[in-house]
Amino acid sequence: MNSTTKNLETEILSAIAAAPDETSLEQLRIASLGKKGSISERMKMLGSLEQDERRTLGAELNELKSKVASAIAERKQALSRDALAIRLKSGSIDVTLPVRPEMRGTIHPLSHVWEEVVQIWGDLGFTVAEGPHIEDDFHNFGALNMPPEHPARQEHDTFYFNEKPDGSRMLLRTHTSPVQIRTMLSSKPPIRIIAPGRTFRCDSDQTHTPMFHQIEGLVVDRDITFADLAGTIDAFTKAYFGRDFTSRLRPSYFPFTEPSAEFDIQRPDGTWLELGGCGMVHPNVLRNCGLDPDEWQGFAFGFGIDRLAAARHGVDDLRDLFTNDIRFLTQF
Ligand code: DAH
Repeated sequence: MNSTTKNLETEILSAIAAAPDETSLEQLRIASLGKKGSISERMKMLGSLEQDERRTLGAELNELKSKVASAIAERKQALSRDALAIRLKSGSIDVTLPVRPEMRGTIHPLSHVWEEVVQIWGDLGFTVAEGPHIEDDFHNFGALNMPPEHPARQEHDTFYFNEKPDGSRMLLRTHTSPVQIRTMLSSKPPIRIIAPGRTFRCDSDQTHTPMFHQIEGLVVDRDITFADLAGTIDAFTKAYFGRDFTSRLRPSYFPFTEPSAEFDIQRPDGTWLELGGCGMVHPNVLRNCGLDPDEWQGFAFGFGIDRLAAARHGVDDLRDLFTNDIRFLTQF
């Protein structure tokens, strides 16, 4: 190799090896391989050389070009590896260190609302019932008057598990309503329960999270009427929101209630918050649970707890409730 080329190579390669960061590396690339760079300038001189000389020097310079290019690429990789290592090191948490006094744990806003809501229903005479998150088709849909071809199933964006040998599929419950079924199957009326819990639907945006929380209510007794339902919803409204809030029921449709309604809460400023669904337990649902609809009547309701928490705390993206970002959580 020509000694001038050799010197140039040593100079450029050692500068690359010593480049402290990506900016200086980029400057070195421009200074060597760039249009006006040292290698490019030499390339331009080739034209004035004799053919033999031009051939050898040309080959040398081309080789140098690719050496420099790969040295730059390697150095770039090493620099970003180092930067990552530094970031990881400074971002790591030593869990054996004593708790920092300024990092106090707080109750999650959702837990707050959950506990408050359960407390209010408790005062109204409701006990808490529970059911599994992994449900079968019967409890989540079938017994709730949603046979396999029922169109309402499509609105549920269900997470299914793999098929079992018999062709059936378990699922993540899409609502807390299966707890109604479990309760009616396992205990005799009178029934007065609420079932708060996690529910799952394949949906994620500002107003939906794939895991969310609902609370279900169920009353089964003799001579239960729609007026009992309306009065109960209103009692909850006043206890949770305040005496100057009112509730209204709007006609709606759910397969498991007849008649069905949606209930809204009116704020003192006259605006409405749509909260949930409710209705009189459908005779088919009572029958599916072994209860005679001529003897027993009931009402049921269900609403989202996350929405309630978001409304109370002015959270405008429901997903924020579940990212567990300490900067979000410590605001409450
Ligand atoms: N399960 C319904 C849903 O997730 C909510 C609901 C509506 C529950 C009406 C009820 C009811 O108990 O009566 O969309």
